[in-house]
Amino acid sequence: MIRVETDPQAGLQASLRGDILIVIDVLRFSSSIVTGLATGAKQFIPVATLKKARNMHKKNRNYLLAGERKGLKPKDFHFGNSPIEYKKSNLKGKSIVISTTNGTKTIEYCKKSKLLLIASFLNAHALSTYIADYLPREDNVSIILASNSHTIFLEDFICAGLLVSNIIHLTSKQDLNDDAILAKLAWSSAKDDLEKTIRQGHHASYLESIGFIEDVKFCINRDIYDLIPFIQDNKISKINRG
Ligand code: MLT
Repeated sequence: MIRVETDPQAGLQASLRGDILIVIDVLRFSSSIVTGLATGAKQFIPVATLKKARNMHKKNRNYLLAGERKGLKPKDFHFGNSPIEYKKSNLKGKSIVISTTNGTKTIEYCKKSKLLLIASFLNAHALSTYIADYLPREDNVSIILASNSHTIFLEDFICAGLLVSNIIHLTSKQDLNDDAILAKLAWSSAKDDLEKTIRQGHHASYLESIGFIEDVKFCINRDIYDLIPFIQDNKISKINRG
């Protein structure tokens, strides 16, 4: 079965069920992770609070700090949560502790899963083919949308629909929960003018208002990175597909 879950806490239950979990936070946590790893970062270490991030940096000065609150870089951090910023920086071999408003909190709910992957438009095809080619057919998949439990982010819902549509196309899975059916419909209706649709959403509008329109435009690019981030021992790195 393929499920789309709009409440991050559903990640707990899905993990207990033994599902493969896919976390999406298009603007911008998952797009930043995908871009950072594509740019050469060794790994990201997600933490829920800024305090925890700072403590980790105190203990290990090689760790760089990244993240945001209200979309903006905390003053004492090395990086914000901007894929464009990561693309321009030298991240080669770096370990980066990251804390964001919704993305890293959602990861907390999903940590106990047997396999946790991170998706965005940037790596949608790579992730879908990995699910189709490498995972047992009987595995259930839960796509968890990052949010604060009360809000659905338009861009995450549409990206979930793209993944559902890809996975159905590539596998024999046909069994969907209602939110997966809805997300697939949302993707079909938005795909021909993705930028226009996503820029109507509240988070894209907010990011534009604080000067991050280039991030929004970049995060809408489809399938530009052929990599799949996964989490092991609370570290996000890319799956080595040999
Ligand atoms: C989050 O985790 O809430 C986001 O990625 C926020 C953002 O930086 O746009």
